[in-house]
Amino acid sequence: MVNRVGVLTGGGDAPGLNGVIRGVAKAAENIYHAQVFGFMDGFHGLVENKYTVLDQVNTSGILHRGGTILGASNRDNPFRYPMGKDEEGNIIWGDVSDQAVTNLTRLGIQALIIIGGDGSLHMAKQFSEKGVKVVGVPKTIDNDLDATDQTFGFDTAINTVMDALDRLHTTAEAHHRIMVVEVMGRYAGWIALHSGIAGGADVILLPEIPYDVDIVAKKIKQRSAAGKGFSLVCVAEGATEKEGEMVVSSVVADSFDPIRLGGIGQVVANKLAQATGLESRATILGHLQRGGSPTAMDRILTTRLGVKAMELAVNGPYDHMVSLQGTEIVAVPIEAAIGSLKNVKSDSEIVKAAKAVGISFGDTFDD
Ligand code: F6P
Repeated sequence: MVNRVGVLTGGGDAPGLNGVIRGVAKAAENIYHAQVFGFMDGFHGLVENKYTVLDQVNTSGILHRGGTILGASNRDNPFRYPMGKDEEGNIIWGDVSDQAVTNLTRLGIQALIIIGGDGSLHMAKQFSEKGVKVVGVPKTIDNDLDATDQTFGFDTAINTVMDALDRLHTTAEAHHRIMVVEVMGRYAGWIALHSGIAGGADVILLPEIPYDVDIVAKKIKQRSAAGKGFSLVCVAEGATEKEGEMVVSSVVADSFDPIRLGGIGQVVANKLAQATGLESRATILGHLQRGGSPTAMDRILTTRLGVKAMELAVNGPYDHMVSLQGTEIVAVPIEAAIGSLKNVKSDSEIVKAAKAVGISFGDTFDD
């Protein structure tokens, strides 16, 4: 009988993490009479044995709060953990996953709920292979995980971007400018695609559809000729020009995926200013997309995911994650979620619909 469960929030944060924690803790107490140990700062707390016991009281009043009451980290991989530095200042890496398993055993924890994106779910799989009973909860604002229709945090992020586009719309119109908005999403264009449509962008640039600056410029000039002297361009951080490369802003050595993208917005703004003769400005929304209060959709989704994760932690199946499939929350093998990233398909219905209302992806030009 499982009556002690661990939970941690791995990777970068996303609005809704607290909703999952609350769902787990409340279901644990109300239905399963189980105790929940929340590890602090993701896998760091699991390795260093830093935790707090979660209950009805300390998980109350957190549903509307962004961030995570447990803290998060997108470093601290137990299978490649920083152990110190050598004489030349290089980080020495070590596998401390046994230490993490020992901590779980000493605390009497029989199942571990890992809330995270592809990096954390990879580690979940590795812990499962070491015999830990693991349950995953898919999280990322990027919505790039396979085997779930939507990840939590995505809806809040696209609403934040939509609001920014609405605000930029008015100033763009007043000054007859091109406003370029750079949004997150790593190697997938979901945030740019959905928020661009919702915010009435004229151009959306995605990693999955390489663009040609001249085609984008032609679209903007066509708008000007038709009396619309301003344009809104929504650019995914991973967008690439045809025969170009992604723009990297930094490299974080001890992260599961060390590459941090960023900077394409200004590049696009400069090139469009030159190609059109119009004034242009770039806005990078950055971590604003990860902050703030979750939307109603994310609050409901995370509550359901947390409750289902607790059910799996008690009854299995293990080595599975909870997943939104249509309107139902179901269990799917973690393996299915981490096999490959979910990308936008250039011939999908949603891309076709966007093109049908006149949005340019910078790939083709119809007069
Ligand atoms: O995966 C979520 C995400 O916000 C990406 O969209 C972005 O590229 C990355 O994390 C930023 O990571 P960091 O928080 O390390 O800057």
